[in-house]
Amino acid sequence: MADQVRFFDTTLRDGEQCPGASMNLRQKLEVARQLEKLRIDVIEAGFPCISDGDFEAVHTIAAEIKGCVIAALARCVPSDIESAARAVAPAGGRGRIHTFLATSPLHREFKLRKSKEEILRMAVEGVRLAKSFVDDVEFSAEDATRTEQEFLAQVVEAVIEAGATTVNIPDTVGYTTPGEYFGMIRRLKERVPNIERAVISVHCHNDLGLAVANSLAAVNAGARQVEGTINGIGERAGNAALEEVIMAISTRPGSFGAVTHNIDIREIVKTSRVVARMSGLSVQRSKAIVGENAFAHGSGIHQHGILAKRETYEIIDPASIGWGETELPLTKHSGRAAVKQRLEKLGHVLTETELQHVFERFKRIGDSKKFVYDDDLSSLVNDSLDMHDGLWSMDFIQFVAGTSARPTATVRLVKAGRSMEESSTGNGPVDAAFKAIDRITRTKGTLAEYQVRATSQGRDALGEVTLKIDFGTGRPIPGKGAATDVVEASARAYLNAVNRSLSASVQAERPCRPDA
Ligand code: KIV
Ligand code: ZN
Repeated sequence: MADQVRFFDTTLRDGEQCPGASMNLRQKLEVARQLEKLRIDVIEAGFPCISDGDFEAVHTIAAEIKGCVIAALARCVPSDIESAARAVAPAGGRGRIHTFLATSPLHREFKLRKSKEEILRMAVEGVRLAKSFVDDVEFSAEDATRTEQEFLAQVVEAVIEAGATTVNIPDTVGYTTPGEYFGMIRRLKERVPNIERAVISVHCHNDLGLAVANSLAAVNAGARQVEGTINGIGERAGNAALEEVIMAISTRPGSFGAVTHNIDIREIVKTSRVVARMSGLSVQRSKAIVGENAFAHGSGIHQHGILAKRETYEIIDPASIGWGETELPLTKHSGRAAVKQRLEKLGHVLTETELQHVFERFKRIGDSKKFVYDDDLSSLVNDSLDMHDGLWSMDFIQFVAGTSARPTATVRLVKAGRSMEESSTGNGPVDAAFKAIDRITRTKGTLAEYQVRATSQGRDALGEVTLKIDFGTGRPIPGKGAATDVVEASARAYLNAVNRSLSASVQAERPCRPDA
């Protein structure tokens, strides 16, 4: 009989750890709701001890999401584990504590300054403590792929004995190769006497571009949980892209052992879009499965083949993963109920105030644009999420530019019902608008990246601006904004980044204890 591979999504933890990907609570909830629709088995919702924001996110997701196991990360120290236990408590029997400790010589000697015996003791004590709160305990041997195999086997056996139900063998720095990782998982299965009492999990980083290949090799060797993120976002080069692992197993059944999964693949494209929108990290065009070009056929020969028989040049039916599932576009005549229904279908759960805000923008855009497409509508949602958090929203923008005019912009912003207006000149209307926003919000950002694209078809398409702004921290914050005018879209994107930076500094990180 085929075994089921479980998927453990860490978009909200390891994914969110990636520079510039900070999400607020509302954005995390939208991602979690969509992951539930995708039928992900486990959602790692955060690292509760690291900040109040992370704690609140895990706690809220644990209370709201009913269809998935909700995991919280904790170092192998009592304060972390207790905080994780409190955060996942609302999930009841679906709560998991995921505790980790580095096992490799490099980490033992230089980061932790602990002997093998101390590591073994801490791991066992951590798992026992976690087990006193929940039945479902996962232990991760951080940097497992650079750990002595004998010692790794010893740790794995000891944590299973202490009550771990899942043991994770992370390739923390993306160092391993498919053949090597296969051998490692196989040896653990052969050498660890109690291994059948736990699920072997794998967690691969993509530093050598091998995260997906390594994960699949591990499945072939007997791993039955795969960890990763949607769109592969994460620290450095990212984590294994779950949609790629899922589709490799679905497209090549039998190639990775007799395994099945419980994922609803029709939700893959939508999930990718929700994560891109919420994290502010757009998907590379040629990315496998979910990139815009993944099913675009440029050459005449390919187009001809596809028309004759789709399978000539396509190994996946794009419709089966949710590509092309667009409905008739809305127009300015569409009413509030129609907009609300479409937003819900797109996965946006908005309060009445937010809905009103999106609807007003929809009406304004409907006046200058014949059709409002789903992607246009989704682009409008970010602003209302900002507004909900009591941050800045844009009331109006006016600008003057041209070959013989001095570029000037006037911006009016609203925060908590109070409006403020400022004007500024600049070396162009976009620069002038950014400066006017800086004056009102008392921030000073430097543009690190800037891109503009059309969200839908036609000359009247919405321009969507994606940018990154450095507010002096050296870690540029992304922002997105959309409007029929690119100067307005740029100002909205800039404001989005300002809001993200303000909410990130409100949720300031607690310092990590260096000994853990
Ligand atoms: O990469 C890693 O080792 C991790 C662990 C905390 C699982 O993210
Ligand atoms: Zn990781």
